[in-house]
Amino acid sequence: MPAENYRPLVFAHRGGADALPEHTLGAYLRALEEGADGLECDVRLTRDGHLVCVHDGRLERTSNGRGRVSAKTLADLETLNFGSWHPGYPAEEELPVLSRLLTLERLLEALLSSGRRVRLLIETKHPSRYGAEVERRLVRMLRHYGLADPKPDDLVQVTVMSFAALALRRIRAQAPGVPRVFLMEFVPPGLGRGRLPFGAHAAGPGVEVIRARPGLLPAIRAAGHQTYVWTVNEPADLELVLAHRVDGVITDRPRFVLDQLGGV
Ligand code: G3P
Ligand code: CA
Repeated sequence: MPAENYRPLVFAHRGGADALPEHTLGAYLRALEEGADGLECDVRLTRDGHLVCVHDGRLERTSNGRGRVSAKTLADLETLNFGSWHPGYPAEEELPVLSRLLTLERLLEALLSSGRRVRLLIETKHPSRYGAEVERRLVRMLRHYGLADPKPDDLVQVTVMSFAALALRRIRAQAPGVPRVFLMEFVPPGLGRGRLPFGAHAAGPGVEVIRARPGLLPAIRAAGHQTYVWTVNEPADLELVLAHRVDGVITDRPRFVLDQLGGV
């Protein structure tokens, strides 16, 4: 159990990928019903320039399609089933909410019309392959929905995340008010003092990074940054990140984490 008066934000990784097919609207909405504070969403570009919520570069693992997401048009992807591969997909009937491709636009529309407050962590994938296009289109979409210049009473509060400093720099240049998380699967050289590069507000280390470098989070916090740790699915991982008093826990199992936190 966490210490008194401390309760991290809980984010459903890829919409809470354990129970339902990742990155489907049904998964995201269920995570919010369960009490998650926010959602984590990966975005990529289709060949015709649409931002879609798909983690992998290829289609095979999470759909009945084949090939690269970036080689397909939005219309191509709309014909695929993105849910039937998952054990949590109901065998008896076709459910669009658990099988239809989710676009970022559709996700934002659904969240904004839900009327509830939600934090949305958007991870841009592969900034080098697409040039500046992913971030450019993302900022344009955030502007369209009035989310590029965040205000405290915004219903949807967007943070952009990336493993690529280049992507964070582009966001800073185009939408400086949008918070940015620098993701890490290892400790980048030169981070010994915990100061993050490129104006990132928060660090997003993998849980294995924390285990390997216990001094990292205290240093990052001492430098004034928040910490969001992924992917916290197991009891021992949760115990570790709670001991570090992280600001955000990103998990495939939001129900489990919320239960452990005692429904606070
Ligand atoms: O939240 C960060 C985490 O999602 C990064 O890993 O591969 O699941 O996108 P990945
Ligand atoms: Ca991600």
